[in-house]
Amino acid sequence: TSQPFTEVRFLAGQVGETVRLRGWVRNARTSKTRFIDLRDGSGFVQCVVGAAEADPESYELAGKLTQESAITVTGIVQLHPKTGQPELLVKSLALIGGSQDYPITPKEHGTEFLMENRHLWLRSKRQWAILRIRHTLVKGIRDFFDGDGFTLLDAPILTPSACEGTSTLFGTEYFHEGMAFLSQSGQLYQEPGIAAFGKTYCFGPTFRAEKSKTRRHLTEFWMVEPEVAFAHLDDVMALGERMTKFLIQRVLEGRQEELKILERDLAPLETALTTTFDRMTYTEAVEKLKTLGSDIQWGEDFGNDDETILMNATDKPLWVHRFPKAFKAFYMEPDPLDPKLALGADLLAPEGYGEVIGGGERASSLQYLLDQIDHEGLNRADYEWYLDVRKYGGVPHAGFGMGLERAVAWICKLPHVRETIPYPRMMGTLRP
Ligand code: 4AD
Ligand code: MG
Repeated sequence: TSQPFTEVRFLAGQVGETVRLRGWVRNARTSKTRFIDLRDGSGFVQCVVGAAEADPESYELAGKLTQESAITVTGIVQLHPKTGQPELLVKSLALIGGSQDYPITPKEHGTEFLMENRHLWLRSKRQWAILRIRHTLVKGIRDFFDGDGFTLLDAPILTPSACEGTSTLFGTEYFHEGMAFLSQSGQLYQEPGIAAFGKTYCFGPTFRAEKSKTRRHLTEFWMVEPEVAFAHLDDVMALGERMTKFLIQRVLEGRQEELKILERDLAPLETALTTTFDRMTYTEAVEKLKTLGSDIQWGEDFGNDDETILMNATDKPLWVHRFPKAFKAFYMEPDPLDPKLALGADLLAPEGYGEVIGGGERASSLQYLLDQIDHEGLNRADYEWYLDVRKYGGVPHAGFGMGLERAVAWICKLPHVRETIPYPRMMGTLRP
């Protein structure tokens, strides 16, 4: 037959029609009637192969199909009498590519095994759902900023200098310039950009040689980084909140099937969508943490456990702002009311997730930045271009970075970021 193929996602509109599908066998059950769970990348459908409706060779083949065999199948679309879901009453099927001893069986597998087989694990229903939500977030992020008058300003990945401190840099040799480092953040490149475009963003992979194995850290992750001229700390919190709500809305509207596969409780997402995010200063957060049993002292950065403790107690996202300058990056504007503090703001996600956004207002004084660069032991020559922003029409400005994988983990409610990116990179993980 030369009938064109359709995709599973269209079947609901093709009830009663004869269609051709192609895809992979998730599972085949043989009794008198044979059932094939087929997936074609666009969705999942049950194919029913009965001796009365299917031709004899197809009926026989259906009894021998192994997991992940690739097939084409022709049949009539009907609605499952109980679930109301489209299913296919098969007339004929053909094998395209066989599959022997597929390693990921329906039984439980350990994480290490699944990670080694990540290239195959991608085929499982749960991973399909997660990575489609990731896709929706990527598209949503671009649509949000594009629709808000931002200009995309891609930042380089090979860079001469650190943005977020020198301890997590990946280095590589770079001709006669010596060492180049994989970018930890595109921020330093956005700041000059706003003097040209007013509002910019970059969105790409960033790299950190994180030596800690936690459920929140990758060595390669994607970050979206907006930067806004004439903006202050409050503007950045408002922007991050608006973006977060826009993204949640997109996922709730467009990824219902995927959220269902993940058995995601929608109530906390709806709370985040409809309420104003909480805000507290770092100092208030430390006091709250002490009442919740943390042994954090004022002046210490939050540990992973602190973020978990703080955010387990709430269903609402929380902005924490005004951190001790001592543990924040060199480029942050000091708080005019208390120079020990920096005008930074982090958005912590509820349900125990913790930081998904980090940002704040940027230092405006050239002399202050020079002092900070010296104080951190950084090389002035590497940052001269960056300091030009303050020399030629310097203006207050602010921005943030959101880690895509942290956002996916929260929205999908995943126990670990390793499932939020197709091929995760972490300490000890370089293959596949
Ligand atoms: O808080 P961070 O370090 O902030 C910056 O890099 C700023 N320069 C961004 C800016 O203002 N333009 O990182 C921002 C976000 C974090 O909130 C987190 O979501 C994510 O990036 N992130 C990571 N995600 C996964 N693995 C890691 N190792 C991450 N490190 C940071
Ligand atoms: Mg941070």
